[in-house]
Amino acid sequence: MNHFQYKANELYAEDVRLADIVAKVGSPVYVYSHATLERHFKAFDGAFASVPHTVCYSVKANSTQSVLKTFINLGGGVDIVSGGELYRALKAGVDPKKVVYSGVGKKDEEIEYALNTGILMFNVESEQELTRISEIASRLGKKAGIAIRVNPDVDPGTHPYITTGLKNAKFGITIDRAMEEYKRAAGLPGIEVIGIDMHIGSQLTKVNPFVDSIEKLKVMIGKLKEMGINLQYFDCGGGLGIQYNNEEPPLPADYGKEIIAATKDLGLHLVFEPGRNIVGNAGILVARCLYTKARGEKNFIMIDAGMNDLARPALYGSFHSVQALKKDQDGLITADIVGPICESGDFLVKDREVPMFKQGDLMAFMSAGAYGFAMSSSYNSRPRVAEVMVKGGAFEIIRERETIEDLVKGEKVATFL
Ligand code: LLP
Repeated sequence: MNHFQYKANELYAEDVRLADIVAKVGSPVYVYSHATLERHFKAFDGAFASVPHTVCYSVKANSTQSVLKTFINLGGGVDIVSGGELYRALKAGVDPKKVVYSGVGKKDEEIEYALNTGILMFNVESEQELTRISEIASRLGKKAGIAIRVNPDVDPGTHPYITTGLKNAKFGITIDRAMEEYKRAAGLPGIEVIGIDMHIGSQLTKVNPFVDSIEKLKVMIGKLKEMGINLQYFDCGGGLGIQYNNEEPPLPADYGKEIIAATKDLGLHLVFEPGRNIVGNAGILVARCLYTKARGEKNFIMIDAGMNDLARPALYGSFHSVQALKKDQDGLITADIVGPICESGDFLVKDREVPMFKQGDLMAFMSAGAYGFAMSSSYNSRPRVAEVMVKGGAFEIIRERETIEDLVKGEKVATFL
């Protein structure tokens, strides 16, 4: 359930008419509902109320500070994958003891930054990274809390680009190597072994792959105990899917029940790294129809947002439903909704029945809160769009639209020209 609904024939975000936002801020614009963000965070967090746990929201899904602050206010931590994400989260007020750091390519300065900040743990993704973290921590006279990200070799049944837990993926340490690495980690001077971690993919619509992976990791946890390595944290990663079209992902409560059942005898503190599940349906992208044209059988609706603003359809062929801000269109039309970018892959909708938009009409691309703005770019020298957060009957700009001057910020024309 989200808070983007029609009242009479106009689309609203909570109690704000979306057309009023565009009148003030212009288009395209990303709009988030604070009530939906809170509702989704609480639904996820609440699913684990009966066990010790921390929800470390995955910053990459939507890293805008007001979004981070919304979850931090509710007691959330964060999952980060870069020094930049750590900076953002700290600025938004996160408790460093609720930060977990994933990613296969942590740089020395990023590791040092995280150590100096005092984060909870590094999710280690390779043998060399483990050594590096130990060296840097020792130099700083610190001990780094670590978990090994174990690649359980389980197929999550999702898009190949967002499948991460199969053994030919670049992520984590394979299950057969992981025991050795735990043994080695326990003897490294800069390391304190505190957890185990997995993340098998994104937009999962079934719970079994999570449970199957947990079962594999449980065997390891048992063996580690026998070796005298006692863990405190079990990081189950993120990946729980949402409904974009006709998917039927489990509700967080149902996911929670199964995960709790699978982990209950371990007595470990659970960590989760959800991104999409919390923010996906809490945000939309609003755009305006610039032109329409028909070519033979084919209809095109040209809009002022493109693949640089919402990359998912071009990149993964993802489905985002489209709704008219005002339901006064004359019927439906099968069309492509395309952006202004000079590439044929620049579409937001392909061959789909949509409202018969005319020049000037406004439309909303739904379920755009996750990996929407966060993956946007200024390709074709298009300033990145504004972001707005709605709360009840009020709204605020939480990121200004970039200007054309911003596009050349930091650029210098070489002196030899
Ligand atoms: N933890 C780790 C280590 C991750 O790599 C990810 C996502 C998450 C947590 C959060 O996953 P989520 O709960 O959002 O599924 N750009 C793609 C999705 C890429 C996901 C990358 N990793 C998309 O637009 O579908």
